[in-house]
Amino acid sequence: DRGISLWGKKVVVSAGGTREPIDPVRFIGNRSSGKQGLALAKVAAVLGAEVSLVTTVAQGSFPSVTEVLVSSAKEMDEALTNETAGADLVVMAAAVSDYRVKEPSRSKIKRESAAELNISLEANPDILKGLVKAKKDGSIYIGFAAETDDLEVNLRRKLESKGVDIMVGNDVTRPGAGFEHDTNSVVILSKDGQRAVFDDLSKEKIALEVLTFASRLFDRP
Ligand code: C5P
Repeated sequence: DRGISLWGKKVVVSAGGTREPIDPVRFIGNRSSGKQGLALAKVAAVLGAEVSLVTTVAQGSFPSVTEVLVSSAKEMDEALTNETAGADLVVMAAAVSDYRVKEPSRSKIKRESAAELNISLEANPDILKGLVKAKKDGSIYIGFAAETDDLEVNLRRKLESKGVDIMVGNDVTRPGAGFEHDTNSVVILSKDGQRAVFDDLSKEKIALEVLTFASRLFDRP
């Protein structure tokens, strides 16, 4: 027991990779399993929070966790805009596709004789950046970043550009860390200059460390 509590706090967690439709049966996706987000939601609930989990992967029921199932980045954006109204803590662990298909086909795309098929993409908005603009005073917003190089440089830059209070970064090239694994290694940076590193822990333990780090910011005057 670390003496930390999220009792009475409204917590919103996003999880999983978004699916951007190409046609009714195909999508552009990514390797996010939603495991770190699920762990964050469960641990926040155990610490006493009322949790809303906006996820692309159905996670099953868990006490004090309300699941909102979404698929595309657009759906995730809409759900999060609703769910984060009045939130005390928002943890954006989802892997949002940077691009979506410009004009998804309404019927299944047939194989044509042409050897090439071109699909135009357009940028998705940065969901987290938009949510931060509506954040209530005293609330804490956390972003996650998966990086393959210059982890800390990128984290510091994203801390600034996204306007979040905390960035959590993981080097996805590290063995056993990141996508589809049950363990993770992270660097946590806060905008007020605090830094913590956790290596090779279960995603539940990483969740506890991230929430412990965040809850210390609540306690500050
Ligand atoms: O810029 P990058 O994608 O690395 O930032 C990662 C963080 O930003 C994550 O918390 C992710 O959920 C969020 N994000 C977002 N909307 C996007 C892309 C990323 O909210 N379109």
